[in-house]
Amino acid sequence: MERDVEKGVKRLKWAKDHMKVLKRVRESVKKAGHLDGVKISMALHVEAKTGILGLSLREAGATVKMASCNPLSTDDSVAKALREEYGLDVYAKRGESEEEYYKNLNLILDQDPDVIIDDGGDLISLVHTTRRDLLDNIKGGAEETTTGIVRLRAMESEGKLEFPVMSVNDAYMKHLFDNRYGTGQSTIDGLLTATNLQVSGKNFLVGGYGWCGRGIAMRAKGMGANVMISEVDPIKAVEANMDGFEVLPMHEGIKKADFVVTATGCKSVVDEE
Ligand SMILES: NC(=O)c1ccc[n+]([C@@H]2O[C@H](COP(=O)([O-])OP(=O)(O)OC[C@H]3O[C@@H](n4cnc5c(N)ncnc54)[C@H](O)[C@@H]3O)[C@@H](O)[C@H]2O)c1
Repeated sequence: MERDVEKGVKRLKWAKDHMKVLKRVRESVKKAGHLDGVKISMALHVEAKTGILGLSLREAGATVKMASCNPLSTDDSVAKALREEYGLDVYAKRGESEEEYYKNLNLILDQDPDVIIDDGGDLISLVHTTRRDLLDNIKGGAEETTTGIVRLRAMESEGKLEFPVMSVNDAYMKHLFDNRYGTGQSTIDGLLTATNLQVSGKNFLVGGYGWCGRGIAMRAKGMGANVMISEVDPIKAVEANMDGFEVLPMHEGIKKADFVVTATGCKSVVDEE
């Protein structure tokens, strides 16, 4: 049987071969020396593509420490390969407890970073609360996702954000291709792996018709599902209707749904009721 670390190395190599834009960026940043001696602490989903990002930043001159931004998304084979074959400091394992999750975020911060890369806002929030001693050295950061940006904008409007953060999600290339097409595909992939059910002919309810929700709905429809949308924003609800979907409140849709996916960034969209 293939060992985890070998599987991880293969995944990393496959991803690297498909990341040609990053290759160009890596080469130009390395040549310019912009990252020489820069300490980067990053909390991202730990999987092959972000692994290649971490290795690229290191190759371009930075010292990189990596943890997960989500206790459930780590690809353990990749994390192991990054540690054992590439010598990258990665602190993450799939299914880690909340305590382990925060311990790992703290471990990557111990290097007194110059730059923070975050996905969801937990790492930046930690620096602004229990690790405020690090604020003096931090030059700036980047935040990946919609929910993280919402949290950071709230901090900014209260005057509580203490270093500049680049909103990666605002790039059209990000929210169009990652949120819509990337999440659209990977959600269906995860659902199929978890349930081993056929999507075709099923009633498929999507909560939220934003960038991710539109992608998920589009892919489910393409696979033959009867897609319904639940959306609180009336304009997006009309958009869903005009895209050909039935739009209805969650508590009505869920009565006939075989699959329910929420893509809202909010809690309790499906509640006990
Ligand atoms: N895991 C990943 O790889 C990944 C990638 C991209 C985005 N995300 C996350 O996915 C979530 C959605 O991102 P997005 O870019 O689609 O956001 P978005 O703001 O474009 O869309 C969210 C939609 O949900 C709707 N909504 C909010 N509360 C609702 C409720 N209770 N019921 C029904 N609809 C509701 C909003 O009106 C909005 O239209 C965010 O949390 C984001 O951070 C995850």
